[in-house]
Amino acid sequence: MTITDGTVNTNLSRLKFWAQPRSTHHDTFRWLRENKPVSWHEAPEALDPNLDNAQGFWSVVKYRDIQHVSRNTELFSSAEGVFVDDFPQLETMLSFIVTDAPRHTEMRGIVGVAFTPKNVFKMSEDTSRIVREIIDRVAPKGEGDLCHLITKEVPGRIFATFMGITDPDQIQYVMDAAEQFACWNDPEYAHIGSPLQVFADASLKLATLAIELAKERKEKPGDDLLSWVAQAQYEGNKMTVEEVGVFFALLAAGANDTTRHSMAHVLALFDQNPDQLAYVLEDFDARADDAINECLRLEPPLMHFRRTATQDCELGGETIKKGDKVVMWYISSNRDGEVFENPDTFDVRRIAKHNPHQAFGGGGPHYCLGHMLAKQTLKAEMWEIYTRMRDLKVGEREMLLSNFMNGVKRLPATWMPEKR
Ligand code: HEM
Repeated sequence: MTITDGTVNTNLSRLKFWAQPRSTHHDTFRWLRENKPVSWHEAPEALDPNLDNAQGFWSVVKYRDIQHVSRNTELFSSAEGVFVDDFPQLETMLSFIVTDAPRHTEMRGIVGVAFTPKNVFKMSEDTSRIVREIIDRVAPKGEGDLCHLITKEVPGRIFATFMGITDPDQIQYVMDAAEQFACWNDPEYAHIGSPLQVFADASLKLATLAIELAKERKEKPGDDLLSWVAQAQYEGNKMTVEEVGVFFALLAAGANDTTRHSMAHVLALFDQNPDQLAYVLEDFDARADDAINECLRLEPPLMHFRRTATQDCELGGETIKKGDKVVMWYISSNRDGEVFENPDTFDVRRIAKHNPHQAFGGGGPHYCLGHMLAKQTLKAEMWEIYTRMRDLKVGEREMLLSNFMNGVKRLPATWMPEKR
């Protein structure tokens, strides 16, 4: 659908649309929520020149419709792909996020077993330590790009720790592969090939290493997530080492970019709202959780996930045909005025019960596995940064061109250098 009545351009299929400022996207989504909550769009312009998107897609932009799609897994399947773009090979690299029940339930059950309270406590201790170590290095500098210095560094190191890696070369290898995931569209990686090949290459590197490590940990478990997952059993089932490897590639993709871009938005939002930052810091333990949820609501790092209709059905007054792509735009539903008061306003006083945002999904069985850990990481980063990098001033966010990732490429900043 393209409506260009002089004020609103709804052509979500074109990269040109996504190259516009984010405020323009929000104008479009507001218009769609009010006028066409479920709308048909032509096949998206392919991100990868070697691939053609064969089909158009339905855009779902309202909160309750997204909840319906997300929770109704018999009608809306994840197994055909989760991006608006067709990336067939890529989707087999994304482990159980591209499966439906019963396989999804089984795989998620096995991984869930590894997330015991004791293990989660260990991961959260590791997270706080890693954040502290990174800020130890960055705080004395006084200026730099916070994406490069902090936001990409933190999840990369956390992820390497989860794999139980201590060798610095191997840590760097994992971080480079994870970085490559985030930059599939970046010309810097064009020597590897098309965006799909960039992504596939990163996935293969991580999965191969994880398989190797999983074999070792099956024999000799360590105290890390990879060992816990390799050992975990759910209703008598275990993952094969190959499945563990692919799952770790999914984790690298799922955990790195999201947390990284979210933190960049947190820093930009608080820079624009210093009074709200002061309010949070006055009682950090009591207020940080709501503040982080508010940042995630206003700036969800993942703008959409997709499902495929398994049969003809009705949604928002439209007839969806079996096999149609159905795209859930979280970037829109998080500003749905039927659910959120003053939806475009950043307000850290918005308490949890008034902020059931969909940054982590619409509440179906694929709801983000790492949501607690992600929030814990953002909280640890906020604390270290705002208590140690005094007079922090950040510049404009340089945004990534993408129809999927609400990404920040660069965030220049200055602060008072911390004295050693
Ligand atoms: C701010 C950070 C994050 C955001 C906004 C986010 C968002 C999401 C969303 C929207 C989904 C898909 C929901 C759906 O399809 O219905 C998802 C799935 C997933 N996320 Fe996250 N995520 C974040 C961080 C993480 C972290 C840190 C991890 C790992 C430790 C993680 C692991 C996963 C996994 C494994 C899935 C697939 C779950 C499934 O298919 O059952 N995520 N995430």
